[in-house]
Amino acid sequence: KETGGYLTDCKITEMESDKNQQKENLQSTDRDLSEQIKTVTKDSHVRAENTELMLSYQRGQITLPQYKLLLCSLYEIYKALEEELDRNSSHPSVAPIYFPQELARLEALERDLEYLLGQNWRERVIVPAATHRYAQRLRQIGGENPILLVAHAYTRYLGDLSGGQVLGRITQKSMGLRNGEGLSFFSFPGVTSPHRFKQLYRSRMNSIELTEEQREGVLQEAVRAFEFNIEVFDDLQKMLRATETDTKEQRRPAPDSARDAAH
Ligand code: HEM
Repeated sequence: KETGGYLTDCKITEMESDKNQQKENLQSTDRDLSEQIKTVTKDSHVRAENTELMLSYQRGQITLPQYKLLLCSLYEIYKALEEELDRNSSHPSVAPIYFPQELARLEALERDLEYLLGQNWRERVIVPAATHRYAQRLRQIGGENPILLVAHAYTRYLGDLSGGQVLGRITQKSMGLRNGEGLSFFSFPGVTSPHRFKQLYRSRMNSIELTEEQREGVLQEAVRAFEFNIEVFDDLQKMLRATETDTKEQRRPAPDSARDAAH
């Protein structure tokens, strides 16, 4: 898999962003896709941060069952996302934001799942309905309208390189994981500076040529991408609550009739 050479690109982008900074003083950059996508997803980001799962995270109260289930869903999501990005890597809208060496998460997720669920992890992966729907959408647009993959790649990868970095540190502390084991998902060995990489990524997004209609489609899809993530998080919490209730039921003393039957 070929990429444009991140370090070289970063230098170029630094120069480009200096130039953009000068331009910014003269003209607004409201037309930049990276600005527009951030603006249209602002409210959705607040909603995503306020899901029960993300709030547990921010309070440092993430539990091992929560983390395992989250990784299972992320595995399904990145499998679909990265297969579709690979398949469409030379599409003119996808090529500029295609960075498999720096961003790909699938192998990291496989390592984490093997560590946390054991060798037979593939048989133990649980996929909630909302995760299925998200993965299905990714495969559908990968086949029918690959331009929209830009919205999904933005939502996941820039999120992983932003708040995701904090979540990684919380996961490590809350679960006392050592030597990065079970935490590969949060680590981007190919990205030396998340801040500079995000600048590069934004400038690549802004270089994609889109008609007004296509641009509108990408913006709408980004809001949808956040929505899919929120639904996945809510579904995971529902599933965990159901398991907790089941466990409590099992722990509760059996009613007399049941005890009698057991004697
Ligand atoms: C950016 C925090 C959850 C997607 C950011 C930034 C912060 C942040 C501080 C800004 C970084 C910067 O401006 O350089 C958090 C926290 C979260 C959370 C604390 C939950 C506890 C999420 C989720 C998603 C997401 C669930 C999507 C699935 C993004 C994206 C950006 C971002 C796409 C880049 C925005 C841009 O610069 O265009 N996040 N985030 N975040 N986050 Fe989150």
